[in-house]
Amino acid sequence: MWNLKNLGVLAAAGLLWMTFVPVVLGSPEAKPASAPSPDKAVAVHEETSVTAIEDLMREHGVLDRVLLIYEELLKRLEADEPFPAEALREATDIIRGFIQDYHEKLEEKYVFVKFRYAQAFEGLVETLRQQHGRGRLLVKDIISCEGLRSPDEKRKLAASMRAFIRMYRPHKAREDTVLFPTFRTLLYFSEYDMLGDIFEQEEARRFGGGGFEKIVSRVEHIEKMLGIYDLSSFTPIPATESQGKGEGV
Ligand SMILES: [Fe+2]
Ligand SMILES: [Fe+2]
Repeated sequence: MWNLKNLGVLAAAGLLWMTFVPVVLGSPEAKPASAPSPDKAVAVHEETSVTAIEDLMREHGVLDRVLLIYEELLKRLEADEPFPAEALREATDIIRGFIQDYHEKLEEKYVFVKFRYAQAFEGLVETLRQQHGRGRLLVKDIISCEGLRSPDEKRKLAASMRAFIRMYRPHKAREDTVLFPTFRTLLYFSEYDMLGDIFEQEEARRFGGGGFEKIVSRVEHIEKMLGIYDLSSFTPIPATESQGKGEGV
């Protein structure tokens, strides 16, 4: 299973820790994560408050909320409505600092490399990796046009934001529904447990204590600025109900 070539790939990626876990867990009770024993599952829960995949998926929740912010800004841009440039700057800063420089780096360093080693979903992983790169270019385009100095910049900004939203919705959905569930089955429990700790330590190192909560509160601040914070405002009134009350959807 482990040969020198594979070890070289992992060493280059700073992932030699992955080689230790199966060796250390070479005991008969060692099992891949897809076949948990109840006591082991409890132990994992107690040792790590947020598991590695929970961590990545809640970060996708932040991404989703920023995509909603982008949608609202795009709608205002295209309708020539008041456009708070501060909201765009702050949302893009979260994309760059939290999603691209942190979340996507974790995926590339710890998730994608595991698929490459397992030779699984290679086409999908390559597409996801390319999309991370395109996302960075789109963010550069968005920043270069955020001053809205001309009608051309306005058009370019709208096109870049539209492309960003269009790419990242299926990107994160594919990771949530295909990549992450499979990733879980490629790891031993100890390996998965260790990864949760690594993610939490990296988050604390980059953003300090309560780093995730701080990012969420920044997102909430932008949502409030744009009037899209109230979740109930997204609840539609079904036609069958509105007919009785004389209201529209
Ligand atoms: Fe990704
Ligand atoms: Fe992701």
